[in-house]
Amino acid sequence: MIPVNKFKLTTEDKKLAIKALNKNWISSAGPEVKLFENKFKKLIGKKYCSSVSSGTAALEIALKIINLKKGDEVIMPNFTIISSAIAVIKQGAKPIPIDCDLYNWNMKIDLIEKNINKKTKAIIATHIYGYPIEIDKIKKICKKKNIILIEDAAEVLGHKYKGKHCGYFGDISIFSLYANKHITTGEGGMILTNNPKFKKKIFDYKNLCFGEKNRFNHYDIGWNYRYTNLQAALGINQLKRIKKIIKKKKDIGKYYYENLKNLPNIYIQKPYLSKNIENIYWVVGLLIKNKKISAEKFRRELKKYGVETRAFFWPMHLQTAFKKIKIKFRGPYKNSEYLSKYGFYVPSGLETTKKEVRFIANSIKKIANKLGL
Ligand SMILES: Cc1ncc(COP(=O)(O)O)c(C=O)c1O
Repeated sequence: MIPVNKFKLTTEDKKLAIKALNKNWISSAGPEVKLFENKFKKLIGKKYCSSVSSGTAALEIALKIINLKKGDEVIMPNFTIISSAIAVIKQGAKPIPIDCDLYNWNMKIDLIEKNINKKTKAIIATHIYGYPIEIDKIKKICKKKNIILIEDAAEVLGHKYKGKHCGYFGDISIFSLYANKHITTGEGGMILTNNPKFKKKIFDYKNLCFGEKNRFNHYDIGWNYRYTNLQAALGINQLKRIKKIIKKKKDIGKYYYENLKNLPNIYIQKPYLSKNIENIYWVVGLLIKNKKISAEKFRRELKKYGVETRAFFWPMHLQTAFKKIKIKFRGPYKNSEYLSKYGFYVPSGLETTKKEVRFIANSIKKIANKLGL
C-alpha cells in the first residue's frame, strides 16, 4: 500500500531527541522547548510563541483568551477540521461557519462580510490544503470592524502570502505539528502573537493558571496543554530545513498536476491560482467534477491498486456532534457539501517518490476511463 502520508525524520533529528533524553529533559521543562519556540517565532515573524500539545489545544487557548461571552459569534470555515468549532462552542459562543470557494477551497470572503454583525467577536481564517487564504483582505475587515483575527496556519507552515509567512497576519496564529504536517514532532502545536497580554494568558492557560504568590492556588480554570522537551528536540532540525521540505511538497504537487491536469472530469488545483496565491500542496486533493461517481467509490477503486487515500473534511453543518446539541447553521453550504462528497486526497508525504506519483496518476487515469469519467 502506498501510504497517504510518509513523514521524514532524519538521523540528525533523532540524535537531537536522544541527546535531550540523555540529559533527562523529558517533560515540558528543558532548553529545547525555548530554543524551538524562538526559532519558530523568528521564522514566522511574531514576537511571542508558545508550544502546546496540539493544534487543537492551540485553538482552544486562542478562543479562551479573547473573552468570548454567551451569544458572541465567531466566523470560521465550514470546510475545515472540527477543532475550530469545538473551541468556540466550549467558550459558550456560536460558531458561524462560512461556505468555501469551489476552486481554492478556502472560506469565501464575500460571505464573511455578509455574516458580520454586532455579535461578531472573532474570525478564524484558515488556510485550507494548499492555497493561502487572502488573509490581508480579512485583516482589513477585522481592523475596520474591531474583530479579532485568529489565523489557523496548521496546514501551511513555511508557506508565504504576499511576501510574509502564513501565521504572520493573525492577532493570534496557530500551527499543528501532527505527523501529517510539514514538520512533525508526533503531536504538538504552536500559538503565536505580538500582544503581550495575550502572551501571558497563553502561557498561563496552557499551564493550569498557577498562582503567582501561592503556586497551588490557581487563579482560573486552565489546561495542561504543555509540550515536551523531547518533542521540541525532534522539531528543531526539521525547522532548519523547512525551505527544502516546502520545495519537496510543491514538487510532488506539481508532478501530480502535470500528470492529471488533462483529465476532463477530475479537478486538480494548479501550482499557482494567481501571482500571490501559490499552492503549497499540503495535501494533493482531487475533485470529481461531474458528480457521476462519489469520492468514496473512486477511493475504493484506488485501494485495489494499493493506493491509500483520505476523504476530504466533513462540513460543520453535517457533523453528528453538532446535531446533538442543536446548533443552528446559516447555510446554504453548497460548495463544502459538494467537496465533502466528491473530493479526496492522494499520497503526498515527504517520502513519496516520483515513481509512486506516476503509478498513482496512471491508476487514476485507468479508473477514470473504466468508470466513464
Ligand atoms: C486547519 C487545521 N487546524 C487545526 C488542526 C488541529 O491540529 P491537531 O491535529 O494538531 O490538533 C488541523 C489538523 O489537521 C487542521 O488541519
